[in-house]
Amino acid sequence: MMDKLPANMESLNVERKRVSPRTISLMICLFLFAIFFSFWMNSSLESIKRLYVEETKTTKPQPQPQPPRFAYLISGSSGDLDQLWRVLQAVYHPWNYYVVHLEKESSMEERLELASRVEKDAIFSKVKNVVMITKANMVTYGGPTMLSNTLHACALLLKRFKDWDWFINLSATDYPLVTQDDLLHAFSGLKRDLNFIEHTSELGWKEAARAMPLIIDPGLHKNTKSHIFGVSPKRDLPTAFKLFTGSAYAILSREFAEYVIYGWDNLPRTLLMYYSNIDCADEWYFQTTICNSPEFVQTVVNQNMHYITWDTPPKMHPEFLHINDTANMTASYLPFARKFKHNDIVLNKIDSELLGRRNGSFTPGGWCAGKPCCSKVGNPTKIKRGEPGAERLTRLLARIVYSAEFRDRQCK
Ligand SMILES: *[C@@H]1O[C@H](CO)[C@@H](O)[C@H](O)[C@H]1NC(C)=O
Ligand SMILES: *[C@@H]1O[C@H](CO)[C@@H](O)[C@H](O)[C@H]1NC(C)=O
Ligand SMILES: *[C@@H]1O[C@H](CO)[C@@H](O)[C@H](O)[C@H]1NC(C)=O
Ligand SMILES: *[C@@H]1O[C@H](CO)[C@@H](O)[C@H](O)[C@H]1NC(C)=O
Repeated sequence: MMDKLPANMESLNVERKRVSPRTISLMICLFLFAIFFSFWMNSSLESIKRLYVEETKTTKPQPQPQPPRFAYLISGSSGDLDQLWRVLQAVYHPWNYYVVHLEKESSMEERLELASRVEKDAIFSKVKNVVMITKANMVTYGGPTMLSNTLHACALLLKRFKDWDWFINLSATDYPLVTQDDLLHAFSGLKRDLNFIEHTSELGWKEAARAMPLIIDPGLHKNTKSHIFGVSPKRDLPTAFKLFTGSAYAILSREFAEYVIYGWDNLPRTLLMYYSNIDCADEWYFQTTICNSPEFVQTVVNQNMHYITWDTPPKMHPEFLHINDTANMTASYLPFARKFKHNDIVLNKIDSELLGRRNGSFTPGGWCAGKPCCSKVGNPTKIKRGEPGAERLTRLLARIVYSAEFRDRQCK
């Protein structure tokens, strides 16, 4: 190749000497025409392509990405069976997963009744997405056994169902303010790594009254129920990590749930042991864990997604919500509220005005088929869109997740 090149160039030079000026101008003309023609071809091709793409877009919509899936724990105490069942029906959707739990203090009959209802329900037995923890846990009010019960359910959901996106923790005294279609629709626009954990490092009265005193939860080691009790001396605040506290209600991403449950990093386990001696461990654990794990700090949303009204300071107990709270609940745009008395009339109002749910039936959604409505499962990923509840929730999420303050409120 290399030795041939000079010879070729020489022959070109010889040829150029012979061409006339006329031929040169002709060649230039041809050249210009070729350039013009290729430009024209290109632009018309572009416009044809654009037309074609637009046409196929309107006739063949891109397949929607699948909606996210939620994994719920709904837990109750003695006497909560009917209310727990009502909450389950109100938040049920065949696309999601559910674990229900009645704590050990509830009677054997009550737990057997729940087990039999889950087993006999035509939809549950077909979809197989509702599981009951039959070996009930002892749960002490204010004790770390409340937290370990939540972690137990979370572990069970991870083991049984491989494809959920968020874990939501509810009790029988909670109630949804939006349909599951609304929730699935509003959350489908979000990054699935977000964790909704209300938190602060300003401990306030909790520093002296909760963080330093030591408690024992007899639920960890006794077969009979009794209250937590304090022991002395108190302990100092930790220096190995920074304390964060907040709401016991949270929505956790699957990634964070795995981090906490599988424990490949030792922090979640260390903190679980540390918090076995604190009053209301469930108001500290997820907050402290996520805020001391740099890889998750960017994913925390400082909001628990629950409408709660507190007693006037010290904000220790949530108040019961009544019918006169309906306007404020709706105006909050939040997806859940607590807490409610069993069968309070405000629940009927939520059913009829916000959920469109009939007594004894599931909250209707795009999945519902059969007669009466929702007696059969149609297409579980058919989500009703454009509902007012979904719009409110989408707006709320946009306000908190895309706001300028979002980053400023993380683990401060
Ligand atoms: C989860 O939900 C239950 C309601 O049964 C609540 O009492 C508990 O504190 C919640 N949070 C955690 C972190 O366990
Ligand atoms: C709402 O109703 C409840 C019970 O009927 C009552 O105790 C409470 O004071 C009312 N709240 C307001 C703000 O009116
Ligand atoms: C609703 O919210 C307003 C404004 O925050 C408050 O003044 C009012 O007392 C609330 N209503 C009830 C029933 O709590
Ligand atoms: C709902 O149905 C149950 C029985 O299925 C009944 O006991 C209860 O009174 C009904 N509640 C309302 C508000 O209709």
